[in-house]
Amino acid sequence: MGLFSLLFGRKKINYEHRVLSPDGRIACIFALRQGHLTYAIEKDEKVVLKESKLGMKLMNERSFGENLTLVRLQEKSHDKVWETQWGEEHWIRDNYNEATFYLSENTDDRRLLTMRFRVFNGGIAFRYEIPPQPKFRRLVVMDELTEFRVDLHSSAWTIPAYQPDRYEYNYEKCSVYEIKKSVHTPLTIQTPNGFFLSIHEAALYDYGSMTIKLNEWNALKSDITPLSDGAKAYIDLPFSTPWRTIFIHDSALGLITNRMLLNLNDPPIQDFSWVKPLKFMGIWWAMFVGEWTWAPGERHGATTEHAIEYIDACKRLGIGGLLIEGWNNGWEGDWLQNGAYSNFTEPMPDFDLPRVAEYAKENSVELVGHHETVGFVDNYEKQMDDAYKYYADNNIHYIKSGYAGSMMTVYGQKEFHHSQIGVKHYQKALELAAKYNIMLIVHEPIKGTGTERTWPNMLTREGARGQEYEGGALDPSHACNLPFTRLLAGGMDYTSGIFDVTNVTKRLASTLARQLAYYVTIFSGAQMAADRPRFYEEVHPDAYKFIRDVPVNWEKTVPLMGDIGHYYVVARQERDSTNWFVGGVTDSDGRRAKINLDFLDKDTTYVAEIYRDSLDAHYRDNQLGIIIEKKEVKNDSMLDIWLAPGGGFAIKISKK
Ligand code: NOJ
Repeated sequence: MGLFSLLFGRKKINYEHRVLSPDGRIACIFALRQGHLTYAIEKDEKVVLKESKLGMKLMNERSFGENLTLVRLQEKSHDKVWETQWGEEHWIRDNYNEATFYLSENTDDRRLLTMRFRVFNGGIAFRYEIPPQPKFRRLVVMDELTEFRVDLHSSAWTIPAYQPDRYEYNYEKCSVYEIKKSVHTPLTIQTPNGFFLSIHEAALYDYGSMTIKLNEWNALKSDITPLSDGAKAYIDLPFSTPWRTIFIHDSALGLITNRMLLNLNDPPIQDFSWVKPLKFMGIWWAMFVGEWTWAPGERHGATTEHAIEYIDACKRLGIGGLLIEGWNNGWEGDWLQNGAYSNFTEPMPDFDLPRVAEYAKENSVELVGHHETVGFVDNYEKQMDDAYKYYADNNIHYIKSGYAGSMMTVYGQKEFHHSQIGVKHYQKALELAAKYNIMLIVHEPIKGTGTERTWPNMLTREGARGQEYEGGALDPSHACNLPFTRLLAGGMDYTSGIFDVTNVTKRLASTLARQLAYYVTIFSGAQMAADRPRFYEEVHPDAYKFIRDVPVNWEKTVPLMGDIGHYYVVARQERDSTNWFVGGVTDSDGRRAKINLDFLDKDTTYVAEIYRDSLDAHYRDNQLGIIIEKKEVKNDSMLDIWLAPGGGFAIKISKK
């Protein structure tokens, strides 16, 4: 019997193929069961995901995922190391085995579907690829049927989807069988048989973003964010969905250095040598504590005079950039209501943008412009080109954008930020920014899916509760959840470095030392020194030294200890340097961290500058108890550090 008859004669409607990770420990089992698509995952011969369905519901068409036959299987292996422009690692290894299943329906119209799987040592990824079909070129996806059948008794760390504050919620630990309403990804899961998983997606372009909930058969299933008309995505063929990704590790710490998301995105296709990570201060926290206002008036923050004072402070403090919020027309009254009218090229009368920009340039301080759209995409897109050009003409290459509000307004309709229309808008803004050599810091963003590999001008984003929720809505466990959840999707602008921790309007659930830890525990391509300069220069100049010294760009990241929601300690080597930085945070329980410094070079003496909580420090009643000390250390040294309840520590280690 020839190959043709093998494939078609017997109709491969029952078929199974195992794809192994390069180290052989993970197996992805792709199968056709009576023509239905499924996959399952094992690691070390233990079940990670039980057999799970794949498929898609379409408008005015039969669903994809049934009546399928295998036409061809193509397999390849890949192992390459690539250089990042900035990030948590300088060099990243991309190593996987790939299997591509070319499928055809065994019905009259013989529609085609391709499933591509990549199996890494750290997990699996797959996507649906829909080639052009003889009968149609466009499709409307009404539902994606991808299941992730993990053990229902697994634990999960969740934030709810489709809520007014987008991704800005505290993580709740629950059992998978309780996920009845949609939750966002990355979704971190611990299985009863000892695996730590993170379910997410990579390369999200032109498609609704994935949320997850249990379906009627008690399987976790993708729930793609709908558009206002109920459709999930309008797609032109050929089309590839985002990669569905599942990190699989033996420990929670293993998740942290998984670089699958970046690996699943393409290298940049244009020059981004102008992109530079940044540390910046802001005309910002003064508004949160009520000293200044975004709105015009006596206490207006974004005045020419304040900007010049802050530029001088940046220079003295060794900070490269300054964010100025509330400079343009649109902040009058209740700014949340003004999104439809905000103007992004008209400064308020007390703010002379060209003069401030000139002064910043003379003092080698980068300005970070600000666009608060309040989600009024219609208004913003009309002005976006002019607004970016206006900044570029004034030598401004960084923009913080904001999309406050529970929904976006696009083409007059209310849409979810993370719907296909939202995803497209964020990407359009990023591409236009690149045209003007502008880097973005996006608040209320679409979640990260590794696209910063292709578009490195996407410097950082918020997309979780940040420090602006301090003053009541943040618990010390939050920053111990983030590294194992949201931060798996990429950097976050957490707005660290608030030294005025005891402020009565915005009291922080943090010690002073913990504010320094965040520069190491929370990666961001742009890190804010978020407090007002007097707290750095006059109130806590000794503690400030750490913010001056800590870099934004890293050579290597080495997670040292962690327990999701309880504590986290990480060491990072500064890029192109021999300096190391270590940071640690704990929840509301105090604890000791014994830190083994074996990541340092052997036979070398280093000096460790340690910023730690005093023994009596506490995030509730002794936030300022800090000890700053220096010690000589070597590669065989062990540091024994006390983290106060709600506290943390930061260490700079440099060669003697
Ligand atoms: C919410 C952002 O997260 C915050 O950083 C910003 O200051 C306000 N919106 C105003 O744009």
